[in-house]
Amino acid sequence: MSSTTTTDLPGTPEMPDVPQHLVKPNAPVIGRVHATRLCTRSRKAAGFVRHVEIDVSGTELENSWHSGQSFGVIPSGDLDGKPHKLRLYSIAAPTGGETGDGTIITTTVKRLIDEHWESHKLVQGVCSNYLCDLNVGDEVLLTGPVGKRFLLPSDPSKHDYIFIATGTGIAPFRGMMLDLIRQGMPSRAALLMGAPYESDLLYHDDLTAWTREHTNFSYHTAISRHTTPDQPTKLYVQDLLREDFDTLGPMLASERTLIYICGLAGMELGVFQTLAKLLTPEHLAQYITVPEGYEEYPEKWERSMIPKTIKKTKRVFLEVY
Ligand code: A2P
Repeated sequence: MSSTTTTDLPGTPEMPDVPQHLVKPNAPVIGRVHATRLCTRSRKAAGFVRHVEIDVSGTELENSWHSGQSFGVIPSGDLDGKPHKLRLYSIAAPTGGETGDGTIITTTVKRLIDEHWESHKLVQGVCSNYLCDLNVGDEVLLTGPVGKRFLLPSDPSKHDYIFIATGTGIAPFRGMMLDLIRQGMPSRAALLMGAPYESDLLYHDDLTAWTREHTNFSYHTAISRHTTPDQPTKLYVQDLLREDFDTLGPMLASERTLIYICGLAGMELGVFQTLAKLLTPEHLAQYITVPEGYEEYPEKWERSMIPKTIKKTKRVFLEVY
């Protein structure tokens, strides 16, 4: 594993150069479902989200990935006589997989179920429902790994982390957190999670347990469609930067801190606007750069201004879909 060094901004991380595309779509490997379970906080959640573990032992995918990367899934069956196309899923497992020996790769997948806006017919996502329907022991065609940028730095202990997720955007952060924990949790980390209802929080019990086991880890939740005794107003995930500024402010000021954002396209605008409202120009410049004058009116920023006008620095990692 070679490394790239960048020294333009204090705290700019040295990133690993990780292999990708070891298994190509024209020659997928066969994995076997090892475990599958709902990972929402409650069975009565608005969405169905599953944690799916796949055994890739003996294939070229074994021991091949780093947390933060994705893998490809080719669903069985066809569409109008043509085989289904590959879909990419974020890896939720740490580097080395669930068991540490590189055999078990994991993803977090939400069933896509909707009603067509015009025909009002049921729309079911092909690959998400295929993956969620699989049983333990079923075979699945896989490719990958994919992704060179959304990774932990070469030496994770040199940095602290603010992980910001909506929904299944939590997948890579579960993997990265498990990497940090396996390395003895050498850094401070805060995970900010946005969900529509409390029942839809993902991996909630694990994350809560980690806060008890690791004093340098904090877990913050934002519920967008109802209030709770702990959360008297509805919140989006970026609002937590303000609500929990006591904990997050010192991290945001630190040269060690990297921000990772994963989830719904558009969430990055809210995160950047909130940072601009909260941080001094000096601290803001650690994460984003904006043309002169723009800092004063973050509420007027639009998503189309990212990345040409509002640019993230190398201390921000973004994966939205
Ligand atoms: P809402 O849908 O109430 O507007 P899920 O993937 O489980 O649907 O969760 C996504 C979460 O992200 C929801 O709480 C959703 O709120 C919220 N969300 C939607 N748009 C944005 C945005 N632009 N920035 C931050 N959070 C968002």
